[in-house]
Amino acid sequence: MTVRQFKVWRGDAAGGQLNDYKVEVNEGEVVLDVIHRLQATQEPDLACRWNCKAGKCGSCSMEINGMPRLGCMTRMSTFEEDETITVTPLRTFPVIRDLVTDVSFNYQKAQEMPAFAPPADLAPGEYRMQQIDVERSQEFRKCIECFLCQNTCHVVRDHDENKPAFSGPRLFIRAAELDMHPLDARHDRKEIAQQSQGLGYCNITKCCTEVCPEHIKITDNAIIPMKERVVDRRYDPLVVFGRKILRR
Ligand code: SF4
Ligand code: F3S
Ligand code: FES
Repeated sequence: MTVRQFKVWRGDAAGGQLNDYKVEVNEGEVVLDVIHRLQATQEPDLACRWNCKAGKCGSCSMEINGMPRLGCMTRMSTFEEDETITVTPLRTFPVIRDLVTDVSFNYQKAQEMPAFAPPADLAPGEYRMQQIDVERSQEFRKCIECFLCQNTCHVVRDHDENKPAFSGPRLFIRAAELDMHPLDARHDRKEIAQQSQGLGYCNITKCCTEVCPEHIKITDNAIIPMKERVVDRRYDPLVVFGRKILRR
């Protein structure tokens, strides 16, 4: 057992500060263990969201030494013995209290997205999904909705004014997933991403990919292919010709 130095943000929507704590740390522990010990021994009213403690529920997102991370998957051994560990709430979303933020922005963006729309005349059980189609979007279905990618993206981090127009990387992978679904033929997901979800705001910095705890290649496998196909279509002479004819 060692005693380590922590700085933890305490406060609410009105403001707050970093408080200093010395907390016991045992071998093999993760940051969330230490936050729980801090609650149990010194700060019983410290607010922190968590659930599974296994990297699967996406609740314990926080910023640890400035990096967006899952508290339950960040081993204390990641840090130097004499390093002070600073724990703060996600910066992109409004603070409710201490380490708990209001992530409803993400649910609102999900709600704005047109739902999966199979052909209206298709009876249940009529279509047999091919394994290859299942596998194509499998990577995107690993998302645990931790919103670390949303929190990291510079388009909305410190830029609340961009939030109405930008859905963010989590919703871009959802768009890509639906785009790959053979039955979601009633929507053009790439056009929707470009026209209403703010795909054009993304300048492929890849910060979202770097923080994803599920190692989803958000930028390379979802965002860039969608952007390329939107551009291809815009400059495809046949499509441009077709548009002109339709406009007549
Ligand atoms: Fe979290 Fe990755 Fe899903 Fe983003 S894509 S919400 S970082 S699991
Ligand atoms: Fe943001 Fe990811 Fe694009 S961080 S700018 S959505 S590559
Ligand atoms: Fe569920 Fe950390 S507590 S992901």
